[in-house]
Formats: sequence, structure tokens, C-alpha cells
Amino acid sequence: MLWAQVEAMRRGDAYVEQEHLLLGLLHGEDTGALRLMAQAGLTPEELRERLAEQIKPENGAVRTESATLSPSAKQLVEQARRETEATGHDYVGTEHLLLALLLARPTTLDGTGLTYDQLAQTLATQTPEEEVKEEASPVRTTPRPSYLKGRHFLSVNDLSTAEIEQLFGLTREIKLGKVQKPASGKAAALLFEKPSLRTKLSFTVGMQRLGGSAIYFSREEVGLGQRETVKDAARVLSRMVDAIVIRTFDHHNIVELAHYATVPVINALTDLEHPCQALADFYTILEHRAETHGQKLVYIGDGCNTAISLMLLAPRLGTHFTLACPPGYEPPAAVIAQTKELAAWHGTTFEIVHDPIAAADDADVLYTDVWTSMGQEDEKQKRLADFAGFQIGPKTLREAKEDALILHCLPAHYGEEITEEAVDSPQSAIFDQAENRLHVQQALLAAVL
Ligand code: CP
Ligand code: NVA
Repeated sequence: MLWAQVEAMRRGDAYVEQEHLLLGLLHGEDTGALRLMAQAGLTPEELRERLAEQIKPENGAVRTESATLSPSAKQLVEQARRETEATGHDYVGTEHLLLALLLARPTTLDGTGLTYDQLAQTLATQTPEEEVKEEASPVRTTPRPSYLKGRHFLSVNDLSTAEIEQLFGLTREIKLGKVQKPASGKAAALLFEKPSLRTKLSFTVGMQRLGGSAIYFSREEVGLGQRETVKDAARVLSRMVDAIVIRTFDHHNIVELAHYATVPVINALTDLEHPCQALADFYTILEHRAETHGQKLVYIGDGCNTAISLMLLAPRLGTHFTLACPPGYEPPAAVIAQTKELAAWHGTTFEIVHDPIAAADDADVLYTDVWTSMGQEDEKQKRLADFAGFQIGPKTLREAKEDALILHCLPAHYGEEITEEAVDSPQSAIFDQAENRLHVQQALLAAVL
């Protein structure tokens, strides 16, 4: 899906169409779709050349917002799900998408010898991908999600719900000390263009605990886009390290980095998303509440990167989500539209309101983040005025459930978005949440490496 998005973005298209999905299937290494194509004697290069006549060429345009699925592309993904069921697999892979494409557009690959019937038959007789690749380990009790190997994690949208659940299972095993050192001898580069305590520390310690190492680069050292192009940095890093963890401003930088990198790229925060944070947050809710389904999460504050990753993930984990922010501080319209669609699909509620106290009513979880994110320092004074009252403190806590969990991704600004009493209260799981960054990211690293 990521590659399909990149193909759309590189043509300046706002929507991922079926064509982009098809082109997306030509990326990657040793994927299910590529294996099926290889069995039919076709290389991705040949197919790309064939498709060049049928599909709009790259035009040098690059969109900064992620392209979203068009209605016909969505239908195709649904068909891929049905193909998964028909083949008895428990994951939706590139091979199922290829089958769905051939069903929807039987003439696209005319003359190549690839037909729906032939491929469906081949697939039905193959062992599912994860069973082929899974290594036996006497220590590891939860299977490492092998189909995450080599995958990028730029957005919470990059993992299916099943993959997240599997990752949480692995996190539990890691917390219990049951996973050995799958990153032995491996290295991750940490490129950080913004400050960090938790993220830098948790990725560094996480790599160490997995038997590998992490090398940190500050903004001045890398000079992404100034000293060196993103494209060249991606190619150099891919030759020397096994994963790239990046914290940057423009989300498009990591999309471009992932496009050129041949090792997994992990988003350690951009202006658009903070997906590792959201994984740790939902894992923390799961630990404290035994489930994420049916919980009402009320986020009070800015519709920033942290809020965006949380709201996109909430419906898929069955969590009802309310964002209370001052007018004008809502997330981008495309993110709101996508969350509404996800909430409708998963039967959860989603709303954006402007009264923090009313919003907190009956909340199971109260969450907040700073009013001024990194990179917005020039707006600090205006934001201090605009956000007054959007706080986790006595007024909002009174409205929430008596035992409502208090979360904050940290760093916190006492007296602004949260009171010191709220951070220190028995309801606060803020430091469990911070610790879980380490365990969840260790699981993520173990899975993608
Ligand atoms: N929550 C979080 O990402 O913290 P850092 O900015 O300190 O990494
Ligand atoms: N929204 C905050 C999160 C910090 C972890 C920021 O981007 O600065």
C-alpha cells in the first residue's frame, strides 16, 4: 500500500487508483506477488515497461499529503480480502492483491500469460508465506511476525489490525524476557532533526537489548536535503545499516527516504504522525484496561501528530475517540475524512468538539500533548491564549469516569495542557506509557529486521 501511495504521489495524484496498486506490487523483494510473477516467468522490470503505455508516467510532481484510496481501489482491497479467505490464509498479502487486480482488470496483463485462474490455482497449492519463513526458536513463544520483515513503518496505517495485535503479543513476550536477540550484529541509524529523550533512548536501548546497536545523528550531522539529498542519504544508509529510524519535520521526507531505502524506515515523529507513540499508548491502555474495545478516549489539546496517529488507530482497535481542540486546531481534512470512514466501518464513534469539559464526560481515558509542538515555537504566545482551558486538570477530571486513565506522551508542560497533580495522580499511567515505548519499539524492530 505504501508503494502504491508513493506511485500516486510521484504522479501528483490525490488518490491511489488501481493502476498505482498494480505498480506498487512491482516493488519490494521476495513478496508473494513477485514470487507469483516470477513463476510465470515475468520480471518487475518487464511488467513496468509493459504498463508504461497504459499508465500515466511519473511527472516529477510530488504531493506532500499522502494519497488516499479511490473508491475503485478500495473495492480492489476488499476483493483482496475475499481472496485471502478463499485461499485460507490469515493475512492479506501482495499475492491476494495481484489476484484481485487480475479479476477486476483481466486484460491489464494480457499476453503475459498471467491469468486469474492460473494464479489462484498456484496460490491454493502454496504454503502460506509466514509458515515458510518462520524459524523455530526454543525461547520465542510468540511467532515473530515474519511478514513485517523489511517493511517500513511510516504511519499507523502501514500495519493491519492483525499485525498490530501480533506486535502487541510480541511486546508482551519481550516484557516477560522471552525473546532472544534477533538483531544480533545488526545496526540501526537514528536520524533526529528534532530533540528527543524518550524516542532516542528507547530505540537505542531497544536495539541493544535485541543484540544490535544504534548510531545517533543530529540534524547538523546529517543535513538532510541540505548537505545531502534525501535520496542519497537513503542509498548510503541502506548500504551500511539494517534499519533507519527518523524524526523529521516534513512527512514527505520520510516517504521519500522510504522510497529509496532498501532497509526498513521507521517514523520516530514527523509533523504529520507519531505512530510509535500511538502503538505504545494503545498497548498501555490494553495493559491497564485489559482491552481497547469499547473504551472512550478523549484527547484534549492540539490536533497534532500525536492526536493524528491516535485517531487513525482508535477505530481499528475498537476505541471511541473524541478530540477537543480550539477551533482552527483540527487535524488536516483528509485525516478527519479517513478517521470518519474508519470509525463508520469499525462501528466506533469519532467526534471533534471545542468544549474540553463537556468532551471529558464519561471518558475512560484522558489524553493530552503539548499545545506547541516542535517547530511551532514562533506560535507559542498565540497558542497559549488559544488553548487556555484545554487541560487535563480538576475541571476535566471531574467529568471523566472516576478511574479514568490519564495519558500524556511527554514532555509535559505543567499548568498548560496538564496539571502536575494530574501527572502524579494514581490514575496516571504516564510513566508506564513512556516505558512501553521501549517494549513496543523493541517488538517493532524485532519484526522488521
Ligand atoms: N514522547 C516522545 O516522543 O518523547 P521525546 O520527544 O522525548 O522522544
Ligand atoms: N506533538 C509533540 C510531540 C512530542 C513528543 C511535538 O511534535 O513536539
